[in-house]
Amino acid sequence: MALEEERYEKISKIIELVDRSEISSIQSVVSGVIDVINDPQSSAKDLKDIIEIDPPLTARVLKVANSAYYYSLRKISEIQHAVIWIGFDVVKEIALSQKVCEVFDQDETISGYSGSSLWKHSIAVALLGKMICRREFGERGENAYAAGLLHDIGIIVENQFLENDFIDILKKAEHEKKNLSVSEYEALGYTHTDIGKMLTDHWSFPEELVVAIGNHHNPDKAPQEFSKFASTLYIADYLCQERGIGYSDAPFCDPGIFRKCLKRLDVKGYALDLIVKDMEKEISMMEDQGLFQYDKAKKQ
Ligand SMILES: [Fe+2]
Ligand SMILES: [Fe+2]
Repeated sequence: MALEEERYEKISKIIELVDRSEISSIQSVVSGVIDVINDPQSSAKDLKDIIEIDPPLTARVLKVANSAYYYSLRKISEIQHAVIWIGFDVVKEIALSQKVCEVFDQDETISGYSGSSLWKHSIAVALLGKMICRREFGERGENAYAAGLLHDIGIIVENQFLENDFIDILKKAEHEKKNLSVSEYEALGYTHTDIGKMLTDHWSFPEELVVAIGNHHNPDKAPQEFSKFASTLYIADYLCQERGIGYSDAPFCDPGIFRKCLKRLDVKGYALDLIVKDMEKEISMMEDQGLFQYDKAKKQ
């Protein structure tokens, strides 16, 4: 069997397991919100309908919407009020983050990795990617936010289905001072980026997201039409790891690729420094509000 085919077979088997697991339970809400983001005809009602089908999610979205982080001045008790009061875009973000965080539930720390540290990293990448799009390109950055939340979902899948092999890979990466994807490739013949790519493709996400998630450690391989988006995700991921925000799966990433991405996007380092500082402020406000205590929220 050709190497590529063998790799495809192995990952397909894992995706079949994902289909029968709790991870797949996030698919309909996450895909629904991503469709709302990417459909210019979509309305607040479409978003409300997606959220309200899931009562625990509705409760969590309302809880976050009422937190001081979102500065809501009056009690918000319905999703449609949340959309009016704090905005359509903000409610999309809350719904996505609250649904995606359900799968980050492993809290034992192994070689620097835990579900909560990867969650912190993912939300930081999401915020930073969105802020870069808004401030540097004048775009809404909603797909960048979604890509940030989900880019390392392959690690969650490995954690759940490879069990001891995953622990060995984590330990090996730490011991041999390698990026996680190098150890993954040596042990498995594929990496968490391959899983993320196949899973998000299987979930019919827009191609831009699938490509960026699949190339988040090698944006140069993204086709030209998705190069800007993939480079933005790379920059956000790189900077969060460099600043040590949450788990870092690539502590030895190549500054040459980072500089190439900056050049490609025509973004200046000093502009990014300011954006990173603002993102760090947001992250610490979220921590103060207890918004990283996803496990407690999940059980409500
Ligand atoms: Fe990664
Ligand atoms: Fe990452």
